[in-house]
Order: sequence, then structure tokens, then C-alpha cells
Amino acid sequence: PKPNGDSTAMLMKSYACQRRTPLKHHNSFLTEALEILAQNAEYNDNEGRSVAFRRAASVLKALPRRVRSMQDLRWLPCLGDHSQRVIKEILEDGSSREVESTRQSEQYQVMKALTGIFGVGVRTADRWFREGLRSPDDLIRTGQQLNREQQAGVQYYDDLQKPVTKAEADVISDMVEKAVHAVLPGAEIQLMGGFRRGKEVGHDVDFLITHPEEGKEEGLMPKITNWLKEQGLLLYQKTTRNSYLEKMDGPARASSNMDRFERCFSIFKLQKSAASCKSSSAASAEDVSTGRESEGPAEHHPEASGWRAVRVDLVVSPYSQFAFATLGWTGSKLFERELRRWAGQEKHMSLSSHALYDSKQNLYLRAKTEEEIFAHLGLEFIPPSERNA
Ligand code: GTP
Ligand code: MN
Ligand code: MN
Repeated sequence: PKPNGDSTAMLMKSYACQRRTPLKHHNSFLTEALEILAQNAEYNDNEGRSVAFRRAASVLKALPRRVRSMQDLRWLPCLGDHSQRVIKEILEDGSSREVESTRQSEQYQVMKALTGIFGVGVRTADRWFREGLRSPDDLIRTGQQLNREQQAGVQYYDDLQKPVTKAEADVISDMVEKAVHAVLPGAEIQLMGGFRRGKEVGHDVDFLITHPEEGKEEGLMPKITNWLKEQGLLLYQKTTRNSYLEKMDGPARASSNMDRFERCFSIFKLQKSAASCKSSSAASAEDVSTGRESEGPAEHHPEASGWRAVRVDLVVSPYSQFAFATLGWTGSKLFERELRRWAGQEKHMSLSSHALYDSKQNLYLRAKTEEEIFAHLGLEFIPPSERNA
């Protein structure tokens, strides 16, 4: 039986890259619950289950109105039995017991806190959890072996927990632009990730850098980071070289999520006055006087110091790969994942942040813009602000 007046559900496409997903939607009361289960599945190394919950949540984000009953969900794709059970319970009782007990569980909370440390992944966090460690403080207290990245992560933990605002991202943009243009005039810089999708806050700030003359971008990252270091703006950085070779890494590896651009994971030192009053250069003196009184001793006390630490990702791409890099670094993560799945399963192509390979024709499809890539993939163009899958 076909429903009447249920056209949005009927028309809901099954891949997230076929749909428009705005940042603000009508079903956070359901999507937040499903994403807790997705996160928990990730903590338990169950990727399949995690993706299933994320896809279910993503479908609800694309709905034009709030879900009121299970009837509203007829005809929707990607809603498995488990997700439907959770949704039903929330619609009937206001909350789901499974979600609430997950949220309260020690494992979930500890994994969240430990993976929240820069440089700590699920595997490491899980080992620490099983060894009885519960917080970043426990790592220090018990003298855990930490790599350089994790040391920085613990050192700046409080700052890095705080969301980065768009105003702060704009100040960081100015800093990056200044650094890049000082070492390579004519280079182009683009804000990526969540902020390109219109988010008001993020966990970091992402940039993609290129130069219209192919080859000029080679070896650029160390020059940028050296310049920033000399200015005292870098608290931490780790650069990895570009390792992309079309012959070796092309079709076979193209579907992998990790890319091989020259990239830099860093932590910037951001003056607070600059962030809170970007346009006013006379604001710094005023900011100091209105800032909170210092309570503690000399240790880095985020609230009391005049600066904060901010995570920044820098990526350098050759001009010929810029469109692919732009698409690959805009996100959301689920949107990217769905693009690659669509390419592989529906088009026999493999998409990476470097290239698009057509296995049927045995050739690489070139593109100068994101629009051209969507067209190659047979997809309607979805603007960044609607890729919040
Ligand atoms: P917040 O930073 O939490 O606000 O969200 P975000 O969407 O900006 O996430 P994040 O900074 O983690 O990633 C931004 C985009 O870059 C996402 O689309 C990721 O999939 C992508 N990304 C992150 N790391 C890599 C990587 O190593 N390779 C590739 N190709 N993409 C990556
Ligand atoms: Mn980001
Ligand atoms: Mn990032």
C-alpha cells in the first residue's frame, strides 16, 4: 500500500550524499540518542554497528519536521530494528533505557574522557581503561608512557576540551593566511571541515592550502610551521610528508579514508583578546582588565591566562588535486563515507581526497571543482552547508 501525503519519507534517498542535510534539524532528541549508541559501538570496536546507528541518525536529520510517531518512519531507509526500537521507546517514554544506561556507564564516560585527549585513539584508551585508569590525571599520576602528541594533549587538555568558536576560527584564519603568504605569495588558503559547513563551533580548525602553479606547494609545510614557530604561535606541531604516488596509491588504495597529503596536526597559541574582539585592535588592554582574576599559581590555568590552545589541521594539496581535497576535507565524516560507498557500489569508481578512478573505463576522471566531481559521480551537487549528515 502506498501512503498519501508521506512524500518526504518516500523520496528519502538511501545514501547520505544523495540528500541535503542542514546543520539545524528537527530531530536532535532522537539523533543524539542514536549517536550515543554509535559512539559506544565505536568504543567497543564494532564499526558495522556504529555506522548503522550513524546512518539511522543521519536519515532523521534530513527530515523536514519532527518525528511524532512510528508512522512517520514508514518508508524511511537505513532504520534497522535496533534503531527503530530505540526511537519507539523515546517516542513513548521520553527516553531509552539502553541509551541512558550507556550514557551513565563508567566505560562510556571514561572512554569519552580518554579518547578526548589529543593523540589518544580508541585502542589506547581501551587499554588504559582495562588497566584501571580513569582520567587524564591518572595518566600523569601513574607515569604512563606518552608520546609527544599525547603529552601535548594532556598538557592542554582543558583548553582543547572547550569548543572553538567561529570568531576564534576567523582569527586563526588570519594567522594562517599571514604565515602562508609570508613564505609563499600567491598561495590559496581555504577554511575546511565543520566551519566550511556552517558550524558555529568545532573541535579544531581545518585548512587546505594550495598554489595555482603546480609544484610551488612542494615542501611548503615546514616553511609555514617554521614561520609560525618564530612568531611564537605554535605550541605543538607534527608534519607528515606528502606520500601520494598515483601509480602506487591510485585505484587500489583510493577508497581508503586516510589521505597522503603533506599535513600538519598542530596546536596554536591564540591570544584571547584577539579572539573576543577581532575587529578592534584597541581591545587588548581592556580585555586584560575585564578578564577574570588569576586565582592559581604559575601553572597553565586556562581561565586565567591571556591565551588559549586551539587544535589546527593544515593540509597542503597540489592544485590538480585541490577539488578532491576540498571535497574530502569538508566532511561530515559520514557524508564522506557515503560518497565513497556510493562511488564504489553504485558507480564502480573509487574516490579519495586525491582523485576519482573509474574502474570500468580504467581511467582517472579529472575535476577542477567539487561540482564536477558530483557530476562525474552522477550525483546532484550538495553545497557544504547541506553536508551535515
Ligand atoms: P569538528 O572539527 O569536530 O568541528 O568537525 P569536522 O567535521 O571539522 O571534523 P574533523 O576536523 O575531524 O575533520 C574534517 C574533515 O576532514 C572530515 O570530513 C574528515 O573526514 C576529514 N579528515 C580528517 N582527517 C582526515 C584524513 O586523515 N584524511 C582525509 N582524507 N580526510 C580527513
Ligand atoms: Mn574540524
Ligand atoms: Mn580536523
